[in-house]
Amino acid sequence: MPRRALRRPLRLLLVAGARPNFMKVAPLLREFRRRPDRFRARLVHTGQHYDEAMSDVFFAELGIRRPEIHLGVGSGSHAAQTARIMEGFEKVLRRERPDWVVVVGDVNSTVACALVAAKMSPPIKVAHVEAGLRSGDRRMPEEINRIVTDALSDLLFTTSADADRHLAAEGVDRRRIHRVGNVMIDTLKRFVDRSDGSDVLRRLKVDPPFALLTLHRPSNVDDRATFRRILDGLERIGTQLPILFPAHPRTAKMMRAFGARAGAVTGLRVVEPLGYLDFLHLQKRAALVLTDSGGIQEEASILGVPCLTLRENTERPVTVSHGTNRLVGSDPGLIERAALRALRVGGRRRRRAIPLWDGRAAERIAAVFARQHSSE
Ligand code: UD1
Repeated sequence: MPRRALRRPLRLLLVAGARPNFMKVAPLLREFRRRPDRFRARLVHTGQHYDEAMSDVFFAELGIRRPEIHLGVGSGSHAAQTARIMEGFEKVLRRERPDWVVVVGDVNSTVACALVAAKMSPPIKVAHVEAGLRSGDRRMPEEINRIVTDALSDLLFTTSADADRHLAAEGVDRRRIHRVGNVMIDTLKRFVDRSDGSDVLRRLKVDPPFALLTLHRPSNVDDRATFRRILDGLERIGTQLPILFPAHPRTAKMMRAFGARAGAVTGLRVVEPLGYLDFLHLQKRAALVLTDSGGIQEEASILGVPCLTLRENTERPVTVSHGTNRLVGSDPGLIERAALRALRVGGRRRRRAIPLWDGRAAERIAAVFARQHSSE
């Protein structure tokens, strides 16, 4: 009998916890489940995000099956949330003993589950999808999550050459690093046509041209002075065209705490968080995207929509060198000038294709796992 026929499928436990994780696990689950002879993939949802609008809608739209395991941890301080995820995940790993734990991105769920797996006895191997990104800013919780997760990972899947370089500089064995592209872009490419059917513009009663804003980084929204500077910059743009602002729960909470001034900013239209297809529909049609999210810098670059990042740094420099992204921080004058310029130059700004961001990253990741398995 050929040797391959005797081999059992590789058991993979994928982890997702917060909104940006769901579009990253979707193509991986699809790819692994397409090949049941090779892989048995199960999904753990930590429950870091739990609202219908922050979690369930993405499962429905992206066609992700209900997670096999739900930890239901909810919100809390970094320490409390991370600790609850770790306690819950340890029990899961004792029971399941997968061959690999696969974590994505840089949220608290990512680092918590990587840490538990690496400290099991015997250890369970960790694969990190979207490894090696560095903003160089350790005040950002995600930067700590990225560094720790990468230090614990046995397989590191990267999206860009700068990520490979960071990992090599941190002493990661090059044989563990695989540049595969971007799974978030896999999802974008798969769903962008479907998103054309969204009626979100009609529902929100907005006509192009409009700008699209997301803002949720603690460094921007938890600090009253910074938040205020950004709102001042936005007000100057809002006199030119409406700015649609699906507000993250953290931001909505801070706006209430600071006296809801955002509602009074000229041109700013605060709406509830949106699902994936509605947001993609808006992003594709926006004259300008303003954001402090990581994934949106990437999506806007692929869609060819000018993007202003309301941060001083980015862990995704390829979106600046190749894409449509520009860092503007929180200075109102700079935000205004950059926005006016982007509106003038628009999508005509020159872009270069980003290598491997072609919708096939999950396929490459599955191929790496398949090779690992057959050589073990
Ligand atoms: C988390 C990630 C961040 C990611 C973001 C995307 C970490 C450290 N941060 O930030 O990297 O960019 O998700 O959304 O992991 N809340 C709700 N409903 C929810 C979830 C959260 O109301 O479903 C509120 C709670 O008040 C909570 C606050 O939002 O305290 C923040 O949630 P949390 O998961 O701590 O961090 P995010 O800011 O969402």
